[in-house]
Amino acid sequence: MAKWIVAIDGPAAAGKGTLARRMAAHLDLPYLDTGLLYRAVGRRVLNAGDSPADKAAAERAAQTLRPEDMERTDLRVPEVDAAASTVADVSGVRAALLDFQRRFGTELGAVLDGRDIGTVIFPNADLKLFVTASPGERARRRWLELKGRGLNADLAEVERDIRARDARDIARAASPLIAAPDAIEIDTTHLDADSAFARALQAAATRFNLANSDQVN
Ligand code: DC
Repeated sequence: MAKWIVAIDGPAAAGKGTLARRMAAHLDLPYLDTGLLYRAVGRRVLNAGDSPADKAAAERAAQTLRPEDMERTDLRVPEVDAAASTVADVSGVRAALLDFQRRFGTELGAVLDGRDIGTVIFPNADLKLFVTASPGERARRRWLELKGRGLNADLAEVERDIRARDARDIARAASPLIAAPDAIEIDTTHLDADSAFARALQAAATRFNLANSDQVN
């Protein structure tokens, strides 16, 4: 397979991760969930007893990030959702994580999902998808996911958190969440995972000139 770079951006809980993983398997490319990098930085700041709003502490945590920090099992909890979104607004944090993301994709190609992959990390990506869904639907999915992991969450609170995170991700000065002008938008509000994958494959097939028989896994 060619060394394609596939950039998948969009807001929290829109279905990027599931889609990106399936695309990576289908196209035989490595996959990087870049949100995990920001989550790991947020976790380190919290564990050090610092505030995620402390820019120097966040920058230090990003500069000294180790691979094992990404393997922790406590990165997808509400306090880390908020911490990751806060440290992601620090330009020094973003700068510290930039090289790693570019190097990850350069050797073999990759599917990367995040907020700024198609705009900042790989502006020349071969395929850019922008995956969205309504805030209410994203909150419902996130709530189900938390419940499935045995975490007790209030749906209204989850939606408030999602909207607050969207606002921070969109309004921040450093690499805000925005669709690249050449990204193909997939709104998953009324799509299940298989239908979203089919849309993404269609986009990939057109862009990469894949034969029809290569479209279904
Ligand atoms: O995709 P996620 O929910 O795991 O991301 C966690 C936070 O990290 C999110 O609030 C925004 C930030 N993030 C970012 O700023 N840039 C990325 N490429 C990926 C995530």
